[in-house]
Amino acid sequence: MKKTIAILTAGGDCPGINAVIRAVAKTAMNDFDLEVVGIEDGFLGLIEGRWRRLANTEVSGIITLGGTILGTSNKADPFRFPWKSQDEFIDVSDRAMENFDRIGANALIAIGGDGTLKISDRLSQKGMPIVGIPKTIDNDVDCTDFTFGFDSAVATATEAIDKLHTTAQSHHRVMLVEVMGRYAGWLALHSGVAGGGDVILIPEIGFDVDMICDVLLDRSRRGKRCSIVVVAEGAKTEGGAMVVSRYVNDSTDAVRLGGIGETLAGGIETRTKLETRVTVLGHLQRGGTPTAFDRVLATRFGSEAVKQAAARNFGVVVALKRQDIVPVTLKDAIAELKLVPPGHPLVKTAISVGTSFGVDPKKASLGCCVPQANHA
Ligand code: F6P
Repeated sequence: MKKTIAILTAGGDCPGINAVIRAVAKTAMNDFDLEVVGIEDGFLGLIEGRWRRLANTEVSGIITLGGTILGTSNKADPFRFPWKSQDEFIDVSDRAMENFDRIGANALIAIGGDGTLKISDRLSQKGMPIVGIPKTIDNDVDCTDFTFGFDSAVATATEAIDKLHTTAQSHHRVMLVEVMGRYAGWLALHSGVAGGGDVILIPEIGFDVDMICDVLLDRSRRGKRCSIVVVAEGAKTEGGAMVVSRYVNDSTDAVRLGGIGETLAGGIETRTKLETRVTVLGHLQRGGTPTAFDRVLATRFGSEAVKQAAARNFGVVVALKRQDIVPVTLKDAIAELKLVPPGHPLVKTAISVGTSFGVDPKKASLGCCVPQANHA
C-alpha cells in the first residue's frame, strides 16, 4: 500500500493557499510517490470525518486560484469545540486523533496562521505527526520573515490606495483607508509606504488625534489637494482601546476588529473642517489571485513541508529566513505574535520621506510609545 500524506487548510483564507496545496500534492506525488488526502474545511473536517483523495488533475491549474479548494474554518478548535450552543465547548481532540488514524496518513500538513499553528502544536503533543505552513495576510507569525498571502494583500491594499488618491485629489478630501492585520501593523505599514500614505496608523504606535489633525491642516495650508490616512484595524490612541466590530465566540480568537476608520474620521472632520471619507477594504484583501512573490513562496513552503515530513521531522513549521526555507519548531512559531518592533527600519524610512505615524516622529522612530495590546 502506498504511503499517504494528508493536508488541511484552517483559519481565515488568503491568496496562495491553492498554490501551497498544489506544491504539497505534486511534490508528494512526484518525488515520494505518496497518496494525497485533502481534509475538508480545516479541523472541522478532521473532527467530522470529511476528507477525499486528491488526484493530480484536481491540483493542476490552481496556482493562480484564490481561496482554498479544500475549504476552511476558523471555528473548529478540537480542544474547544462548540457544543449545543455557541457558548458551550467540549474537547473533541481524541475524535480528531481517531479520524486521523482512519485516514491512515503518515503525516499531516497543516496550513494556517497563529490559531491553526497553536492547535497543531497541541495535536502534535498528542502524537499527531504534523508539519505546519505559515499562512496569513497579517504577517504576524513570529518564526518567518514573511507568511504567504501577505504580499498579495499588500498589493490589493496598495492598488486601492492608488485609486483613492485620484478621487481624493479631485475633491480635496481626506481619505481614510482601513486595512486588516488584526493586532499587527504590517499590512498598513507596507501598503501605506507603497501607496505613499501621508499618515499611517498601526497598533504598535499609539496615535494622537490632534497630531494627525495638525499634519492634515498643515498639508492643506501648503496647497496639497488631498491627504491619505492608512489606518490598521487595530490602531488606537496611546493608552486607548482597539475598536471591536463584533465577537465570534466559537472562533479561535473571538475578537473581530473594525470601525476605527469611521470613529477617527468623525474626529478629524470636526476638528479640521476638512471633508473626510472612509473606505474599509475588508475581505477584499483576502481574495483574488496571489502575487508572483506569494506563488513562489507558497510553492517553496509546500514542497519543503513534504520533504520535512518525508524526513519525519515533525512538530515543525517551514519558515522563510532570509533566502532559505528552514524548519522551526511549532513551539517557537507560536511563542508570540510578530508585531512591528519599536524603531523598525521601515517606520524610520517612512518618517524620512515625510510620513506621519500620528505622534511626534522622534517617538515613532524610537518606538517609545508602543501601546499595550488591549481592546474595548
Ligand atoms: O487573520 C486574518 C484576518 O483577515 C485579519 O486581518 C482580520 O482581523 C480577520 O482575519 C477577519 O476575520 P473574519 O474573516 O472572521 O472576519
